[in-house]
Amino acid sequence: MRHLMSPMDLSVEELYDLLDLASDIEKNPDKYSTACKGKKLASAFYEPSTRTRLSFEAAMLNLGGSVIGFPSQDVSSVSKGESVADTIRILSCYADICAMRHPKEGAPMVAAQYSGIPVINAGDGGHQHPTQTLTDLLTIRSLKGRLDNLTIGLCGDLKFGRTVHSLINALIRYPNVSFVMISPPELKLPGYMIEILEKTGVKYTQTVKLDDAMDGLDILYMTRVQRERFFNEEDYVRMKDFYILNKEKLSLAPEDMLVMHPLPRVNEIAVDVDDDPRAVYFKQAQYGVYVRMALILTLLGIEVTSEVKENA
Ligand code: CP
Repeated sequence: MRHLMSPMDLSVEELYDLLDLASDIEKNPDKYSTACKGKKLASAFYEPSTRTRLSFEAAMLNLGGSVIGFPSQDVSSVSKGESVADTIRILSCYADICAMRHPKEGAPMVAAQYSGIPVINAGDGGHQHPTQTLTDLLTIRSLKGRLDNLTIGLCGDLKFGRTVHSLINALIRYPNVSFVMISPPELKLPGYMIEILEKTGVKYTQTVKLDDAMDGLDILYMTRVQRERFFNEEDYVRMKDFYILNKEKLSLAPEDMLVMHPLPRVNEIAVDVDDDPRAVYFKQAQYGVYVRMALILTLLGIEVTSEVKENA
């Protein structure tokens, strides 16, 4: 039984297979429409979510399976004090696979230790968000045609933004990938992530100014300031509009640069950018369904050939 806690849990080869499967699902959705008939996804969300929860649920439904779960702590026995360990033991009795989001770093890892079913980390605190990374990698590979030889600008809250941490971990495994970290000093990439970059010899620069950084980027990955991880509202208010990518600023960027964002956005991308062909963040959310379908099939060990549509 395999779990997914971090994008590093998949080897580069496994990742290629998963992305190939996701691309095939995109092209041939009917082929997979009954692959998970009789299987159940437990969707255990201890923290709010729109994309991750609903794309996991859509993924299982698209595969012909069904979904149980809770969208917040308040509507489950977590509110009565039930532990993560006991909750996952119970979900293991009712479902075949679990997607768990939790505000505490490491909680899905604890769940995996007590689980009888595969557990997928759907985001744990400011730590990791591996399925967002799979989504990002599928988006980049589908729209850029490669995962190597890329210069990626990461902009916004690089301290608390778990999607950024997971994406860096995944991309440093590909040749000639470099990063431009664009953040206010207070929201710089944490030291443990800088250590990873230093240790692996990956090229990176750090800057505060978005305008100066855009030239030469293949991808600009915008992130929102993570209000829920701030200790006081005053600091959040001071930081929240530090970067606003609008049409005027985007005119400084290369014509073939992709603008990505894990969403939700707040103010960091103005709506006048949405119609620009470089803005791919809504498409990115769609890729999230295909890659989560591929992940569910992979972790459940279900293979779909063109002849066999149903799992035995
Ligand atoms: N990208 C992402 O994780 O969005 P949600 O918080 O809406 O799931």
